[in-house]
Amino acid sequence: MARRLQPTLGEIGEAARALRQGKLVAFPTETVYGLGGDATSDRAVAAIFAAKGRPSFNPLIVHVSNIAEAARHAELPPKAQAVARAFWPGPLTMVLPRRRDCRISLLATAGLDSVAIRVPAHEIAQTLLTMTGLPLAAPSANPSGRLSPTSADHVLAELGDKAAFVIDGGPCRVGLESTVLSLLDDRPRILRPGAVTAEALSELLHDSVEVEGGTEDASAPRSPVRLLSHYAPSLPMRLDAAAAEPGEALLGFGPAAPQGALNLSPAGDLQEAASNLFAMLRRLDDPHYRAIAVMPVPESGLGIAINDRLRRAAAPR
Ligand code: TXA
Ligand code: MG
Repeated sequence: MARRLQPTLGEIGEAARALRQGKLVAFPTETVYGLGGDATSDRAVAAIFAAKGRPSFNPLIVHVSNIAEAARHAELPPKAQAVARAFWPGPLTMVLPRRRDCRISLLATAGLDSVAIRVPAHEIAQTLLTMTGLPLAAPSANPSGRLSPTSADHVLAELGDKAAFVIDGGPCRVGLESTVLSLLDDRPRILRPGAVTAEALSELLHDSVEVEGGTEDASAPRSPVRLLSHYAPSLPMRLDAAAAEPGEALLGFGPAAPQGALNLSPAGDLQEAASNLFAMLRRLDDPHYRAIAVMPVPESGLGIAINDRLRRAAAPR
């Protein structure tokens, strides 16, 4: 069983040593917890895929501590540099061309000539990256196809036997996986919506940045992100529910939700709703119910990312 580490310099140092030895360490970021390993080691990366039961054609995100480190592995065209300066460190991943001399394991990038890179803002993730001095491949620390973990307890419950350590940084502030932005050609596209929104990116780039495809758009999967039904609890989900039907658990949103129901945000605050989403879905994912009914969340700002996760969770499996 993985040992839970406290985020002291001493214990993060212990995690850094384990990573340098090729072991796996789960650690917090501001989005969700990641299952990290040395991105330059085929053996460590293979262990991540095995731990998650993740198909090897679905590439991993590589975490680095700053823009200069990112530029050692990927090409950063001018638009990417602008995005990096505006949103790194933060809840944003960019898909960029792999540099020729890139030392990232080809397994991590699933043999593609692109690499997904993120500079996380979380202090523990930053300390760990600086202490290891390695790029860390870290997908969300959940078994493939399940909800991403937003606490150390979630990781211990589902992948506890797969990592050497889990660094406990408490609940994740954002609570949804990072925005994935593809910058492989002239037209930037969002492959996965997140806390850095299409509006914010469009404004920065003076260009309309769109969210690619949808869960039902099977014809447009440029990215492996789009190939997979994802983020699913065990129970079926019913969206845009006004109330619970018999046998259903209700997940509310806003002041109109009935008293006593779990509520993503009684005040109707999207940031609060995002940070509660996965933890509340886990709490309601109880075989005493036959389904989870979810009240509507507005389709704007961060609501776009929340609804993306809800639609995926509700997609036919
Ligand atoms: O917030 C996050 O992004 C978390 C934390 C731990 O950083 N990580 C995360 O990783 O969600 P993961 O592996 O669960 O999701 C990464 C997504 C995958 O759906 C993958 O298909 C996509 O990014 N991706 C990775 N490399 C790609 C590439 N070269 N081209 C297109 N999509 C890529
Ligand atoms: Mg994931």
